Amino acid sequence: MRKKLVIANWKMNLISGQAHTLASAIARGVAGREGPDVVITPSFTSLGAVASALEGSGVELGAQNVSWADSGELTGEVAPAMLVDAGCRWVLVGHSERRSVFSESQTMIRNKVAACMRAGLIPVLCVGETAEEKGSGKTERIVESQLTNSLIDIDLANPGGLVVAYEPVWAIGTGEVPLAGDVELVHGIVRDTLAGTFGLIAGEMRIIYGGSVSVDNIAMLLTAPDVDGVLVGGSSLQAESFVRIVRVAGEI
Ligand code: PGA
Repeated sequence: MRKKLVIANWKMNLISGQAHTLASAIARGVAGREGPDVVITPSFTSLGAVASALEGSGVELGAQNVSWADSGELTGEVAPAMLVDAGCRWVLVGHSERRSVFSESQTMIRNKVAACMRAGLIPVLCVGETAEEKGSGKTERIVESQLTNSLIDIDLANPGGLVVAYEPVWAIGTGEVPLAGDVELVHGIVRDTLAGTFGLIAGEMRIIYGGSVSVDNIAMLLTAPDVDGVLVGGSSLQAESFVRIVRVAGEI
């Protein structure tokens, strides 16, 4: 049985005082309940504030990006060990905004996954097709190729050591979500690809959905049996909506 996972992606929002307040409210809101694993990924500059707000709550800390190198002359980058030092256990890798706005290549993303694993961080590898790719029937091919290229020569002994987030680019921040059946279909492709790469342990790996997740669609999205949780952007910026999403995920 795969435990559900709910991740907040705050993107480039909130200064540290605001981040502390929101993280504290979320920690209070999910306290004392059996539920999914919950992770918050604030901006780098708020990691310390959010770490202190989450202390003892069971809610875990993650980052939104990481360098592929362990250390060195890479001005402006943040190494995996620095994230571990800041209290992170998780990190988003290959988010579509990184791929499109910052031109992250498949090789960079693959190397980031490897760097996370060397440092003991859990990469949340984001994949997904654009509207144009969907329109021309390429979803399966795109998702498969993003995954296989990001996992070249990656060894995984523990199924909990890597999470895949399926995030159709056209659904991010648009209010549009795919039908549950379409999400299930793509998650099936992701799981088959993971099985081809890692073998039997793929059945225990978590595959989560992201893109316009809200209080209104969370129950629908989680009805698909292969959907093991969600990556939440906009709806994670309010404690009330994020806590409700966590609660629904805990009931399914
Ligand atoms: P959204 O963002 O929930 O605001 O669509 C999700 C994401 O980009 O991870």
